[in-house]
Amino acid sequence: MPDLSIDCAGIKSPNPFWLASAPPANSGLQVQRAFDAGWGGAVWKTLGVPIQNVSSRFGGVTIRGVQGAGFNNIELITDRSLETNFREIYETKKKYPKNAVVVSLMVETREEWKDIIKRSVDAGADGLELNFGCPHGMCERGMGSAVGQEPRVNQEITSWAVEFSTVPVLVKLTPNVADIVPHGLAARRGGAHGVSLINTIKSIIGVDIDRFVPEPRVAGLSTNGGYCGAAVKPIALHMVAQLARSKDFGIPISGIGGVSNWRDAVEFILLGSTSVQVCTEVMLRGYRVVEDMIEGLGDYMTTHGFKSVAEMVGKAVPSYSEWGDLDLNYETVAKIDPSKCIGCHLCVTACHDGAHQCIHPQGSEPAVKLKLPVPNGGSHARVPLVDESECVGCNLCKIVCPVPDCISMVSVENGFQPSTWNEHVTEGAKLRPKKGAH
Ligand SMILES: Cc1cc2nc3c(=O)[nH]c(=O)nc-3n(C[C@H](O)[C@H](O)[C@H](O)COP(=O)(O)O)c2cc1C
Ligand code: SF4
Ligand code: SF4
Repeated sequence: MPDLSIDCAGIKSPNPFWLASAPPANSGLQVQRAFDAGWGGAVWKTLGVPIQNVSSRFGGVTIRGVQGAGFNNIELITDRSLETNFREIYETKKKYPKNAVVVSLMVETREEWKDIIKRSVDAGADGLELNFGCPHGMCERGMGSAVGQEPRVNQEITSWAVEFSTVPVLVKLTPNVADIVPHGLAARRGGAHGVSLINTIKSIIGVDIDRFVPEPRVAGLSTNGGYCGAAVKPIALHMVAQLARSKDFGIPISGIGGVSNWRDAVEFILLGSTSVQVCTEVMLRGYRVVEDMIEGLGDYMTTHGFKSVAEMVGKAVPSYSEWGDLDLNYETVAKIDPSKCIGCHLCVTACHDGAHQCIHPQGSEPAVKLKLPVPNGGSHARVPLVDESECVGCNLCKIVCPVPDCISMVSVENGFQPSTWNEHVTEGAKLRPKKGAH
């Protein structure tokens, strides 16, 4: 079994899987049960001046039958007393010395930061996470994303925390910004040992169309909340990768946002995360989801010959480039494996209505006119035919095809040297003729 242990900005844990600061990490008994289930670390539900929450406070979207594929909340930070939280942090850390306990914090003044940091460190925190990300409620009080959206304030409060703390400080960034990089750099300038991202995305999850009120409803009114869950993963991956590849950044990242299984976690690690935090998946399915994450990550590492998680971190970052550096002369076409095709024709509809009208049913007018070769095998007469001379290699048919590996995108030798847009503009490099643009 490969070594799953990590060191994220000086915070060590037996595996990269941490509970994100949220309801699953609200109390000592919960965090302890999570550690028993296999979680390597937990970021405690944000501490600050305890608040009063509203009822109700969560919303979910069902996307094509998957309940909670997107999730939204208008919950604030902890509503439990600081004394109770610190006692439970102390007890948890004592019982589970090898697991990482990171304490998430959000207060206002320099004095409050000094006090709460001292108490967190005294309680045994392995690290701190500054919550500069909450996009509802707390930002109206000048905290959360109100700080995360202002690089100068972010830098200043981070520098206070680093001054007062004897343990590593992570800054949790908000995705509610146009470009994440200046915000990550502000945290770095403030002395942060690492960053965590993303917190939730400002959103309205839906509208009750009979009552004419957005969800979740609170006595006939609603407000914007924070979006999270599987649906936000692509946004989170992009932000993590943006920071990971920024030359001036260079501090560890704890990746968060839509992690539902080991594969998602691997993607975050390959794009630069050292640890991976999870909230919604645990809220929907419980602590046991970590079992599959641990097993899946271990198997993946064995298959790919990784001995440690550190070897994996950022492995896909060099392959993430600007659009202008992509090879415009690289060309693919769709190939259908007739032995796998079930003849459903979903690809035909998608290509005809959403792409370039170049997959045709056998016997159709274009297929006959173009004399497209008919394959053998599979559901033979229903296997559609690709007109490769018109196929732009867009991928749409592959995305809709219900049979794994039935459609592949195959590269075509077209005789053109690789050329990017940037090379074309600066050196006049020759581009292949366009397809499908008539
Ligand atoms: C109900 C709920 C409460 C949350 N509370 C906090 C919080 O107190 N502090 C914090 O930093 N993030 C909080 N978050 C954000 C999560 O920690 C996490 O950043 C976000 O949900 C994205 O991860 P996910 O897609 O795995 O849910 C909360 C999220 C949810 C759904
Ligand atoms: S790759 Fe795009 S253009 Fe080519 S057949 Fe598929 S859907 Fe049509
Ligand atoms: S979508 Fe896939 S299985 Fe269905 S007809 Fe097209 S290639 Fe065959």
